[in-house]
Amino acid sequence: MGKPSVFECSNCHATQTKWHGKCPSCGQFDTFHETSVRAEPSRSSLLGNGQGRVRRSNVTLTPTSLSEATDAPVRESSGLVEVDRVLGGGIVEGSAILLAGTPGIGKSTLLLQIAAHAAQSRHTSYFSGEESRNQIRQRAVRLGLQDCDLVLDSTSDALAIADYIDGLPPNSMVIIDSLQTLHCGGDSSPGSVSQVRDATNILVPIAKDRQITLILVSHTTKDGTIAGPNTIVHTVDCLLYLDTDLSSGMFRILRTEKNRFGATDEVGILSMTEAGLKDVLNPSEIFISQRDPTSFGTAIFPSLEGSRPLLVEVQALVAPTSFGTGRRSATGWDTNRLNMLLATISSRIGISLLDQDVYVNVAGGMRITDPAMDLAVACAILSSAARVVLPENLAVFGEIGLAGEVRNAARPDPRIRESQRLGFRDIIVPRLANDAVEFRDGKITQIRRVSQLLEAIPPLKSLLE
Ligand code: TYD
Ligand code: MG
Repeated sequence: MGKPSVFECSNCHATQTKWHGKCPSCGQFDTFHETSVRAEPSRSSLLGNGQGRVRRSNVTLTPTSLSEATDAPVRESSGLVEVDRVLGGGIVEGSAILLAGTPGIGKSTLLLQIAAHAAQSRHTSYFSGEESRNQIRQRAVRLGLQDCDLVLDSTSDALAIADYIDGLPPNSMVIIDSLQTLHCGGDSSPGSVSQVRDATNILVPIAKDRQITLILVSHTTKDGTIAGPNTIVHTVDCLLYLDTDLSSGMFRILRTEKNRFGATDEVGILSMTEAGLKDVLNPSEIFISQRDPTSFGTAIFPSLEGSRPLLVEVQALVAPTSFGTGRRSATGWDTNRLNMLLATISSRIGISLLDQDVYVNVAGGMRITDPAMDLAVACAILSSAARVVLPENLAVFGEIGLAGEVRNAARPDPRIRESQRLGFRDIIVPRLANDAVEFRDGKITQIRRVSQLLEAIPPLKSLLE
């Protein structure tokens, strides 16, 4: 084989495998000349000591086959079913968890409960730079946990905590509330980006090394991001957010944005009670419990919160406007989407509500962004416009496109199953790709166009008269 040649531009030294009249790099003409290939130094000679020997590392690698890789992570329950669910089945021993949320949402309450539960089976310490021991004790009394075997300290010295962790037995738990109060020397103030980064960079590796489960608290800023450097997210195994999506303030939603030991779409629903956070095991039942199935303008929508379906009640009120064009307003849903939906109903079904006020509300204070709610909103609006009560056991989901087409919704199966579980046996859905879904004894109506709603719910036909 002949020696490969390259062409080099004498102006900008760009190289090409073919001759060019004009250099593609600098645009000069007639600058390419053939040169011989310059041998690239190989990696081993870069590391070599000049006598053909590669410099030795003092670390010896012993990679193992994937099939022999380590055991499944050991998990311990947190004491709350919903928290375990979000973590992928419990707290993984030796993992580092970051719990973020706005001030006052319930992070310290949740962690005190988790700490008290962990203290039953292992050494557990709670460091709080935010509250005094007395304040923590008062909270413990309120939660009925004052007698638990927990070690407390109201320090915020990261180096002292690191030393303490170093002396703990494996599988202990350490909770630090919060990162924003930690300092590890230096000039910057506690909570500054460099202090938070340095503190996590000291604490997480030492906890991992000692097989200590570490839970760190971080406040979030107004826009919901973690106050501090992004690097802390990379350092931990799991990032949890405690949030309240529900404006009723009745529930706390626990989500995970990163989880090395489980799925990130799980959602835990908790409620803040007089005695701390409690699992909400049947959220659907709570959301629809106050529904009045005998009034018009309400429809049931099986939404998805993570992998869990959640039934919500959509309410609509359509009433003649006092003057001019009707008002449109949505609570818990996007008003732009409501306008779009009304335009689609007008052009594709021929029902114009221009002279009507239209209000849409998601009962229970839920805020829904799932596009599959379109069809349920359409049903509630048509039901209110026609003054017709929808069938009591009807649930509806599907996204409506501008052409009036009913589009597929993400994961229809759990939505159908949850609806059926709660007695909604008459379900209107988009065309299902999977005909093998087990429908039990319910009735599933698949529709392709929004206009087919009137055939699927015959009393609504009165709107066309
Ligand atoms: P907290 O856990 O201190 O929030 P964070 O650590 O996220 O700032 O608690 C927040 C709120 O919860 C506080 O306003 C009081 C309320 N709360 C209850 O309703 N019930 C309880 O049992 C406890 C301990 C607190
Ligand atoms: Mg707190």
